[in-house]
Amino acid sequence: MPKLEAQEIFAELEGPEWKLDDGFLKKDIISVTQFNRESIYKVLETAKQLQALDSEARSGILRGKSIAVLFYQPSTRTYTSFIQAGQKLGADVVGIHGMMNYSSAYKGESLPDTIRTVHALGVDAIVMRHFEDDSALVAAKSVDIPIVNGGSGKLEHPTQALLDVRTIIQETKGKDPKDVHVAFIGDLKYGRTVHSLSELMAILGARRMSFVSPEVLRLPMSLGNTLKRRGVDVFETDELSDVVGEADVLYVTRVQREWFSSEEAYERARTSQQITPEVMSHARQDAVLMHPLPRVDEITPDVDADPRAAYFRQVTNGLYVRMALLKLILVDG
Ligand code: NCD
Repeated sequence: MPKLEAQEIFAELEGPEWKLDDGFLKKDIISVTQFNRESIYKVLETAKQLQALDSEARSGILRGKSIAVLFYQPSTRTYTSFIQAGQKLGADVVGIHGMMNYSSAYKGESLPDTIRTVHALGVDAIVMRHFEDDSALVAAKSVDIPIVNGGSGKLEHPTQALLDVRTIIQETKGKDPKDVHVAFIGDLKYGRTVHSLSELMAILGARRMSFVSPEVLRLPMSLGNTLKRRGVDVFETDELSDVVGEADVLYVTRVQREWFSSEEAYERARTSQQITPEVMSHARQDAVLMHPLPRVDEITPDVDADPRAAYFRQVTNGLYVRMALLKLILVDG
């Protein structure tokens, strides 16, 4: 099957059938472009309510439902948090972590066939991560149960963007996201978390964003243009010092080694923008330091004790945001 380009994927997702404006029940979660301000806040509100419940009350919410979690790429946080989110809400959850090695994908089965097979076994929703940009869309078109995108190629990671927005609101003490200046740092070309979060912040009306990367890892031009069309003032630089003292949020990312054609190309692209206590001494007192994790060496471990370092609190938010999404698509969206 020919692979869809980013532009084609987003054009298809413009269709009203994908939008979440009228609710989440039985809907797919493929892309941040399906959301508007109201639907984003619905997820955040639901996450808050679920966090306030005790484990007993939570455990009945998805009783009788079953969820399959199929991951074709490595993961620690996203995989574990989806499994935990489903289980804590009382669903039956089956997970295959190494789909490329331990499922029939290894034998050459196509993605639509695998998805149809899992559907035929009676699951109510499928959460997936896959290395193709169009994977979640292809899966969603193969079956009529909800597909939740836990990362598709270089393009999108919508559930990460939602947990990042929750973190931004919490850590900025309730600031409206439209007034928050995020500086994205690192691999802006291949980093799907950057792509999804910048667009989600733009949907929330963010007026200003900065993008710090070496030339070879710059933000895709099409995304830069989309952000500008949404009214964002986009500032690009290769110098962290241009923005470190101004940004409300420093969103640092890993150079995505897996997409480079050679080890040399990766080594050449590796950013010199390492976050150290010295760099943090130039950041604002009320700045928030985020990272989707895993980090390699973009943030030195001696920064972890800095109260502005929010990356492990980000992980906890992921659990509640994923619980919220599962509840909304499966029982009462
Ligand atoms: C990210 C991913 O897989 O896109 N990880 C995550 O889900 N938190 C970021 C990365 O791998 O660098």
